[in-house]
Amino acid sequence: MPSIQEYQNLFLEYLESSLPNESPENLYEPARYILKLGGKRIRPILTLISTEIFNGKYKEALPAALAIEVFHNFSLVHDDIMDKAPLRRGKETVHEKWNINTAILSGDVMLIWSYELLQMYPPQISYSLIQMFSKIARKVCEGQQLDMDFPNQENVTIDQYMGMIENKTAVLIGCALCVGAIISKANENQIFEIYNIGLELGLAFQLQDDYLDVFGDTNKLGKLIGGDIIENKKTFLHLYAIENSSQKLKNEFIDWIKSSPIKPKEKILAVTSIYRSSGAEKAIKDKIEYFSKSVILKIDNLGLDSSKKELLHGFVNKLVNRDF
Ligand code: IPE
Ligand code: IPE
Ligand code: MG
Ligand code: MG
Ligand code: MG
Repeated sequence: MPSIQEYQNLFLEYLESSLPNESPENLYEPARYILKLGGKRIRPILTLISTEIFNGKYKEALPAALAIEVFHNFSLVHDDIMDKAPLRRGKETVHEKWNINTAILSGDVMLIWSYELLQMYPPQISYSLIQMFSKIARKVCEGQQLDMDFPNQENVTIDQYMGMIENKTAVLIGCALCVGAIISKANENQIFEIYNIGLELGLAFQLQDDYLDVFGDTNKLGKLIGGDIIENKKTFLHLYAIENSSQKLKNEFIDWIKSSPIKPKEKILAVTSIYRSSGAEKAIKDKIEYFSKSVILKIDNLGLDSSKKELLHGFVNKLVNRDF
């Protein structure tokens, strides 16, 4: 079985050879730009690993792995418009480098492209892939809408937040693993189990993303730190801090939430310090660890031979302990 690095290289080679070179330039260049900017490529790697775990050949899974990565990149292009994010993978976001309309349409064509990639399979496999993928893609939109609704909604609970991140992020990670299982003709039970592993991994992954948005380093992350604070995103950190602060600290936090972002740096610093003193920083770390442990346990229960198990363990640990 190839190593994680080898899977990544095999995927990048395929990606490079599949990039569209049609015209108009302003439609396809942003798609090439975002896809070539890098990123961790965790979803396609998960698809390739999952294919081999269930005794298929990774090569067969390359178009589907690309479909997932293209969809993910489409969602980021649109997400960066919604989040007013200037930086992605250390470079200008698509809507900053071009404009919002170009980012909308390039995103749209990437979504269409992801479906075309799934149509490259024999009819039965293609049907199963597209059926599952459509359900997932719809959930991602639902999660994204809630993510945008929450800042204006009072009394959002941590449970509601967990439901939101399950949809906006975790289901696609579950899907990446499922796709490999479907291509390898795994049975219903195996597909169910690998999907659930992806869901929990996805929850840990988004919690870590929220953590890094506050406590990460822009140079390593390639995204501007503090964006969630400026947008008053109801992340786990935010909700935990509201629920667990003294009245004085809570009032201070509420004042910052209401403040217009004329002084974004001050707000980021003050809220970060509230996240520390309220215990939210520790609580999110504990929650990430809880899900990571559960994922490892579920992987152990798959009954894989040791080389496959070790490969997955290593990848999961890397993902949930990342600082980029
Ligand atoms: C960012 O995803 C958006 C989330 C769902 C958290 P990644 O952290 O996988 O982004 P890239 O592809 O590595 O840049
Ligand atoms: C993104 O969540 C989820 C999707 C793109 C569906 P975030 O908004 O937290 O992702 P980043 O932090 O911008 O990468
Ligand atoms: Mg977002
Ligand atoms: Mg964002
Ligand atoms: Mg984020």
